[in-house]
Amino acid sequence: MIQVVKLVKHYQEGEVTTPVIEGLDLTIGDGEFVAIVGPSGSGKSTLLNLIGCLDKPDSGEITIDGTIVSSLKNKEALSFRAEHLGFIFQDFNLIESFTVYENVEFPLSVILGEKNTRERVKEVLEAIGMLDQIDKYPDQLSGGQKQRVAVARALVVNPRIILADEPTANLDSVSAKKVIDLMKQMQEKFNTTFVFSTHDTKIMTEARRIVTLQDGRIMDDRSNG
Ligand SMILES: Nc1ncnc2c1ncn2[C@@H]1O[C@H](COP(=O)(O)OP(=O)(O)OP(=O)(O)O)[C@@H](O)[C@H]1O
Ligand SMILES: [Mg+2]
Repeated sequence: MIQVVKLVKHYQEGEVTTPVIEGLDLTIGDGEFVAIVGPSGSGKSTLLNLIGCLDKPDSGEITIDGTIVSSLKNKEALSFRAEHLGFIFQDFNLIESFTVYENVEFPLSVILGEKNTRERVKEVLEAIGMLDQIDKYPDQLSGGQKQRVAVARALVVNPRIILADEPTANLDSVSAKKVIDLMKQMQEKFNTTFVFSTHDTKIMTEARRIVTLQDGRIMDDRSNG
């Protein structure tokens, strides 16, 4: 479970302070599939970065499964992230010199130092329907396929939560729908919580819950379908 309480984040540039998140409260339960939407600059990426322990709030608290992540030191935040969270990025962030297999294996073998990873990597690649592409390199894949690999890479450590900042922004509408459908299937299969931001009205309606931000506050929070 993710619990965000009275979250505040400002950016300071010289004398100028820009308020970005202004006292935001949000609770997301296990296995939810949530879209964070709102106009450009409303704080979607900032909120996801804070939940993902990539950034620190000015005040307020974020708790994930009982751990107050907003007060973790950098090193603790790093290992919490590696063990509990998965990330999917707008620009895929695959390692170009690695095969599909090696990209998906990376968080397990290199970051967590696990051995005997082959079965788990293949299980996840099978789940996302890319088992026949394991020896390909990212530049031999379409954008949609790259993002499927990124979904597998996020899932491989069996995280409780996957955070995705505009995962479909660089995809055509057909591929975008496929990636969202895949995320949904994986959410059902592994009961992983998915929180993603999007600008795309078609994609947001695929979510079961839609949280709308405006000027760093929640303007609307509704379940969908
Ligand atoms: N590193 C930074 N330094 C200063 N200001 C920042 C920084 N990152 C974000 N901001 C400001 O914080 C506000 C919220 O930005 P954020 O990226 O969270 O919005 P967003 O909702 O993700 O927008 P978009 O839809 O364009 O991705 C914006 O006003 C932005 O200019
Ligand atoms: Mg953003």
